[in-house]
Amino acid sequence: HTARFTLDPAFTVGEVNPRLFGSFVEHLGRCVYTGIFEPGHPTADEAGLRRDVLDLVRELGVTAVRYPGGNFVSGYKWEDSVGPAEARPRRLDLAWRSTETNRFGLSEYIAFLKKIGPQAEPMMALNLGTRGVAEALELQEYANHPAGTALSDLRAAHGDKDPFGIKLWCLGNEMDGPWQTGHKTAEEYGRVAAETARAMRQMDPGVELVACGSSSQSMPTFAEWEATVLAETYDLVDHISLHAYYQPENGDIDSFLASAVDMESFIENVVATADHVGARLKSKKKINLSFDEWNVWYISKWHEIENSGDRDWAEAPRLLEDNYSVTDAVVFGSLLIALLRHADRVTVACLAQLVNVIAPIMTEPGGSAWRQTTFFPFAQASRYGRGQVLDVRVDSPTYKTKKYGEADLLHATAVRAEDGTVTVFAVNRSRTEALPLEVALGGLGLTSVVEHSALADADPDARNTLDEPERVTPHTVDGTALQDGTLSAVLEPLSWNVIRLA
Ligand code: AHR
Repeated sequence: HTARFTLDPAFTVGEVNPRLFGSFVEHLGRCVYTGIFEPGHPTADEAGLRRDVLDLVRELGVTAVRYPGGNFVSGYKWEDSVGPAEARPRRLDLAWRSTETNRFGLSEYIAFLKKIGPQAEPMMALNLGTRGVAEALELQEYANHPAGTALSDLRAAHGDKDPFGIKLWCLGNEMDGPWQTGHKTAEEYGRVAAETARAMRQMDPGVELVACGSSSQSMPTFAEWEATVLAETYDLVDHISLHAYYQPENGDIDSFLASAVDMESFIENVVATADHVGARLKSKKKINLSFDEWNVWYISKWHEIENSGDRDWAEAPRLLEDNYSVTDAVVFGSLLIALLRHADRVTVACLAQLVNVIAPIMTEPGGSAWRQTTFFPFAQASRYGRGQVLDVRVDSPTYKTKKYGEADLLHATAVRAEDGTVTVFAVNRSRTEALPLEVALGGLGLTSVVEHSALADADPDARNTLDEPERVTPHTVDGTALQDGTLSAVLEPLSWNVIRLA
């Protein structure tokens, strides 16, 4: 059976916000220490940032970088992380049962972003777990006020004369989760978020704020949480957050391959909930979605370690260092497709996380840095997925999954760049069969296939490792053709595909 869809420039979903290609740096395991920051590493620059990692971060094409957590932020004292490095206190990090040295802090984070380049933007999370309105305001003043007040002058005295200009702020992290330090009910959180937002806007009406939504669609409080929080904060925030992680359950790879079915329904359900609150309030404003944690994460492995009690307040221990297979990368690509398909409302998304911790980039302390399988779909989507998302409605053969019933074998989206070129992103979920694809390109004025790149392998479990860092890379697919306004391609079994048309 052939999978088909039609592209037409008149039918668009919306413009891709560059923030869709955001990522996330948490003080967790080795994301910061021996990940992005390792003074003494052969490639370290004068600030202790690893140049080999910076090069890969640029190649990956990340934009907004969320920081400093995650669960870590709910015990974070920002003032510990600024000023002379030798004087910074060591603290217990309750979230990850680690010791935080604070050697890397706010100033180092901003310096890291500057070194990535102009496309990188700060996205700062606030501690609304153990802290509240006052500390949020203090951090905002320290970070953003130009000069002439105690905290802005302190920043200058610490060596950062120019304000950091942080526009995008997260009002806490996963406050719906009982695991969160300072976890709250929706009513409690809604009030704190609203009052923090109101106060921050008093200092700067131009800030952009993200209220915490649910930690996953399966949370018992899902949807009710969003409705309650948004009823309190609707006029004061710009985004509501979503978090989702996927892994195979009980070896059920077929359902795992259809994980984006859950991600898309999650997005659509949050849009419906937010718009319902807006309708109740008779508001013209729309709340956008910040999918600020998403990835494949073998979370059950982590829970086993967590529950073993075998953790000892180590500094930068090896935590959550999942090594991704080709299968994982195909699911990951499908999650990217899900985000792009909803680019009209998902205006921020952060791949969790950036280095070492469930990450596309891995490092060895004192040694090399390399790309996981998931690196490639992200880098390609960030590079070619800029412009208008075209409306894609597939007519696809289906397969049976335990979790989601009948699911399409084809998952796809297409993005039209400003210069009129179009990139099709497509996943074939079949583990055994190649999938013929035909796309009618109507009024797009396209005449040639620039490239068909695929990530697939005879061994779906193949991975890149320290010893074999380039075992898996995308390859060029021959035979993809564009004739008389129709694109014809064959998608290899279990593959992520990028087809560029001009
Ligand atoms: O990304 C890892 C963790 O997942 C984050 O700290 C937390 O927000 C989520 O539960």
